[in-house]
Amino acid sequence: MLPPRELGVNVDHVATLRAQRGTPYPDPVAAALLAAEAGADNITVHLREDRRHIQEYDVRRLLELLEIPLNLEMSLDPGIVSFALASAPARCCLVPERREERTTEGGLDLARDEARLRDALERLSTAGIAVSLFIDPEPEAVERAAVLRPRAVEIHTGRYANAADEKTRALALAEIASAARRAAEAGLEVHAGHGLHYRNVEPLLAAVPLIGACNIGHAVVARALFVGFPEAVREMRALVCPGPRPEPAA
Ligand code: PXP
Repeated sequence: MLPPRELGVNVDHVATLRAQRGTPYPDPVAAALLAAEAGADNITVHLREDRRHIQEYDVRRLLELLEIPLNLEMSLDPGIVSFALASAPARCCLVPERREERTTEGGLDLARDEARLRDALERLSTAGIAVSLFIDPEPEAVERAAVLRPRAVEIHTGRYANAADEKTRALALAEIASAARRAAEAGLEVHAGHGLHYRNVEPLLAAVPLIGACNIGHAVVARALFVGFPEAVREMRALVCPGPRPEPAA
């Protein structure tokens, strides 16, 4: 049976705009609350080591005010892991981080960081946090993730999103489909994210129905400039989760 589909909305880039001028606005927490009201199933923020957009106080306020799960994207930096353990979001997604990158440009190096990942995964899971690992759609990465047994893998969809021609896009889709199949066989939830937008998300989900959650940021924040945050989220949710919203369990 296919998993229920979720839309996670990443509000980092509301904070990017705030950081651009050092103003108190626009507030990523206000955007997250609007997104939740418009139907987002969870909110993602990336507390980066350089604090270039989201700050600790944003995470604290989100945890106080949000009624849907918060997914904290984070590196293995010991200070960030301690912060996650102390604040206990419902979910976290472990990602690689390089200071000079514009955004998260690839999945985790599971071979190099295996011991640190195992340690963080155990500590975060023991604290009741559902952990996902951000991985490239490559067989070795999926096999290594399967051994570590997180709750989920989030498959990096950058190669698909950035494909310059149909052939490259088809190859990228096939890689994602095969990674998703293997992860699901290993009992892991399958999430996807990076570079997804209003035109490429439906073909991805049609080709890889095993994807249970899409985490999307840049495209939603960009669309919100023209139609407002609630409408941008409603439009994306209609693409990611077509059909009526299921009633919450009694
Ligand atoms: N998922 C992960 C793990 C990411 O690192 C990012 C980028 O911050 C996203 C999803 C969202 O990507 P985008 O902003 O391109 O939609």
